[in-house]
Amino acid sequence: CIDISKLAAVTGLYTLDPGFTATSSCRSAITYIDGPAGVLLHRGYAINDLAAKSSFLEVCYLLLNGTLPSSKRQLAMFKLEVTRRMTVHERLRTFVSGFPDGAHPMAVMVGTVGALSAFYCRSSVGKMDEAARALAAIRVVAKLATIAAMAYKHSIGQPFAYPRRDLSFAGNFLHLCFSSPLDQGEFKPPPKAFEEAIDVFLLLHADHEQNASTSTVRLAGSSEANPFACVAAGIASLWGPMHGGANEAVVTMLREIGDEARIPEFLRRAKDKNDPFKLMGFGHRVYKNVDPRAKEMRRLALACIAERERQDAIDNDPDAYLTSSAPVGLSPTDAIPAAEIRRLFKLATKLEEAALEDDYFVQRKLFPNVDFYSGLALTAIGIPTSMFTCLFAVGRAVGWISHWKEFVEDEPRKIGRPRQLYVGEKLRRFPTIEERD
Ligand code: ACO
Repeated sequence: CIDISKLAAVTGLYTLDPGFTATSSCRSAITYIDGPAGVLLHRGYAINDLAAKSSFLEVCYLLLNGTLPSSKRQLAMFKLEVTRRMTVHERLRTFVSGFPDGAHPMAVMVGTVGALSAFYCRSSVGKMDEAARALAAIRVVAKLATIAAMAYKHSIGQPFAYPRRDLSFAGNFLHLCFSSPLDQGEFKPPPKAFEEAIDVFLLLHADHEQNASTSTVRLAGSSEANPFACVAAGIASLWGPMHGGANEAVVTMLREIGDEARIPEFLRRAKDKNDPFKLMGFGHRVYKNVDPRAKEMRRLALACIAERERQDAIDNDPDAYLTSSAPVGLSPTDAIPAAEIRRLFKLATKLEEAALEDDYFVQRKLFPNVDFYSGLALTAIGIPTSMFTCLFAVGRAVGWISHWKEFVEDEPRKIGRPRQLYVGEKLRRFPTIEERD
């Protein structure tokens, strides 16, 4: 890596690098990716170790503070602090209710997270001390989960629930999304397997260094904008199908392929440069090997499908349904049945195998990324596709705010201001309107 930051001042030369394929925008000590080897480390800890031995909130602590909690008590105190901050101002609930019916939950999230600036952080970044920055970070992690769940409840026309102190972060998220008016306030805990799966899903998405959304947050932060506004900018950047929207696109693609017999036809289309179709959930700017998160996500999808099969058996048995201890909301009426999800999972496995044997994908080092199986895991839990990217945002919130903190606490720091290669008209004489008429 060559530091060329003084190049322009010394020589007057600029580099052109659309898509930033060869440009580091900053120094960072948060996350390390070795793309060719398929390695992902957070503060030096391997993602697979974290997924197996840690929890989402412990990884949040790690990303924000640089070290693991030193004791069970320190971790418990952190969890307590996040749970306390999951509540939102009552007027924010009114704010969400004001969005039109049918608003996409991501649209609700962009707007509502931006609105947090008005409720929770009125001072300028320059006046925020370390404690104020840490509090803003906890608020982002905690409140994004509540806001995502409110966006979902709003989209299905149900009342919002309140977070509970006796639930884990993932458990609270499921409770906020799925506690049903049918239960009339009687709390039914979400199935353990789904709670664990949401926790690992969030952990796997917690940070991924300078992707489009994180770079957006850092760039917005470089103007010393309010942290909640910076995170709202990150959410907007995450929304597109080339980034956070890909998991939604994978499920749509699998349903379109429909049958194993059509895999060769879709692989042909993915390779055809005249066809805009791409194999969704395949390829990555940095990984030129298996995305280490994809393997974890596949395992998660299998566990969620098995649990969905158990839940479907309950739903189809009136006696079991009426006495079930699971929240009924976990089975939205438009949910894809377990048998269909298992069929799509098998289709995804065959598609992956076929692509990995195809020279086109081999030569370009295109492997499944984190999104390839994540949509199937979420579908099995009962999360509707319109919420997939919101879930990604809830997990990535900690990465965004850790990078914001790292940026604003760095000295010296500069406002982000890329140059451009101008390809427009040279100086032209301005003709009056009479001359043009
Ligand atoms: N299907 C077919 N061909 C592909 C795919 C794909 N999914 N991905 C890359 N390629 C091809 C490109 O057409 C290009 O071919 P060429 O060399 O013949 O022109 C070559 O592989 C290199 O690809 P680039 O587009 O240059 O790679 P880039 O780093 O710009 O793009 C990206 C990465 C956007 C992720 C791309 O692989 C893609 O569109 N994948 C599908 C969408 C997706 O899964 N996005 C999620 C990314 S992960 C995340 O955000 C969490």
